[in-house]
Amino acid sequence: MCSAARSCILTNKIAWTWVNDELRIPGISAASADATVVPTWSRALVKAIINNPIECWTEEHFREPVVVGGFPFARVVVLCEPAAIRKVLVETPNAYPKNILERRILSARLREGLTGTDGEQWASQRRALAPLFGRKAVLQLAPAMAEAAVELVDRWRHRRSGETLDIKIEMDALALDVLTRSIFHAGLGGDPQTVHAAMVGFFAVAGRIDLFDLLGLPDAVPRITQWRMRDVLRTFERALDDAIAQGRRDRRPADAARDLLDTLLAAKDPETGRGMSDAEVKANVLTFFFAGQESTATALTWAIYLLSQSPGWSARVQAEAERELTSPFDGAADRLPQTRAVIDEAMRPYPPFAGVTRTASRRDELAGRMIARGTMIVISPYVLHRHRMLWDAPDRFDPGRFLDGAPRTVDRYAYLPFGVGPRMCIGAGFALQEATIVLATIMKHFTPALAPDQTVWPLQRFTLRPRDPLMMTMTPRA
Ligand code: HEM
Repeated sequence: MCSAARSCILTNKIAWTWVNDELRIPGISAASADATVVPTWSRALVKAIINNPIECWTEEHFREPVVVGGFPFARVVVLCEPAAIRKVLVETPNAYPKNILERRILSARLREGLTGTDGEQWASQRRALAPLFGRKAVLQLAPAMAEAAVELVDRWRHRRSGETLDIKIEMDALALDVLTRSIFHAGLGGDPQTVHAAMVGFFAVAGRIDLFDLLGLPDAVPRITQWRMRDVLRTFERALDDAIAQGRRDRRPADAARDLLDTLLAAKDPETGRGMSDAEVKANVLTFFFAGQESTATALTWAIYLLSQSPGWSARVQAEAERELTSPFDGAADRLPQTRAVIDEAMRPYPPFAGVTRTASRRDELAGRMIARGTMIVISPYVLHRHRMLWDAPDRFDPGRFLDGAPRTVDRYAYLPFGVGPRMCIGAGFALQEATIVLATIMKHFTPALAPDQTVWPLQRFTLRPRDPLMMTMTPRA
């Protein structure tokens, strides 16, 4: 990333600033007075890459369309040029396969699923899975999403007045609840609390990078992170195996499916007629939790935080929710454009997945530069969405830029929270519907406020999360 001595923004701890009456988003202001110089391959740089990769981006990355850099063992190109991004992700995706490291750090249990496969196995699964996340199927899941949101606000209503909540933890639990209801209409069997605890433990381990994965050791070598959690992992996997076996026993056609598991069991590749093995079904259920839980929770967390800083947009979302958020809920998200614009805008400065990587499988030209075979291509929504050349006032929180009739439309390849091209997020429609319905439900009943003395700063782990607990009060509305 930082290939030469440049200013890296490492120490900007500002929570929020008002500049000429505009709310400025904390994070990376390229002209930050706090900019720190980090020389190539300094210990500080290595530490920053390990601790919080977004702190390695330099002013140059936010201004230049392409930045070439690298490590002693790999050449890296950071792309922010829309036509070049389109070439890599959409026009010639086969020349730019997913980066091997990305796949290596996926838990072994996820490698048979959509995120872990490649080539014909991936293509066949993607075709078979497409109907699960089509508009019709996603609309049918709206009531389950609304129910989960209503249960959450009911729980909050019973809290002591003025009590603070860690919104990040609340949204994690909510997103897990939505996925569980959508995938298993009757729950996961067994004692719900034990299974829930096992599930939380499983994903805590599945998302952790183990040193053995980085070293590329075979899956047969037990990972220290997983060894410690082996009982928890077993409980969750057993519950999952039972649910799949039960689903196979009372097999249903796709048009009578009660949940995503039924649809998954009935799914067939339309080109070959091939269904999925139990191992593939299981890996994909795990993949949906893995790819869909923390990401959606993070988008909601940032959206609530941003609204807490913007009374004007809070009022707009609350008015819209009062007017439009009524049963039946299928189609509700379409009636909530202002809420949806807040979600879209929240994912701009705080994209849940801060980086998408590919590897050039051949020599090629990108944005006027010759790119050597083997180069790692980094497309970072975090940098792209704050890029000085692509956005008007990138540090300003302005959901209006995503509303119909906005003065300047957003370039398709300048805004990529879900990626683009054949490997684009398959769950984008699901996530957007969930986030819109949940945010509207929360805002209909509460006004969020940040607790005093909070430092808000993004941290890139699996997703881009608030680094510290995000303590807020949720004041019930009259
Ligand atoms: C706000 C929430 C979400 C965001 C921001 C997000 C973003 C992304 C991104 C950036 C990718 C990788 C694209 C690439 O490498 O080109 C991806 C892939 C994927 N996402 Fe999501 N995602 C979200 C929610 C979900 C949900 C709810 C599900 C499923 C229930 C899901 C399932 C997947 C799967 C299976 C893939 C792999 C697709 C493939 O390789 O063909 N995601 N997502």
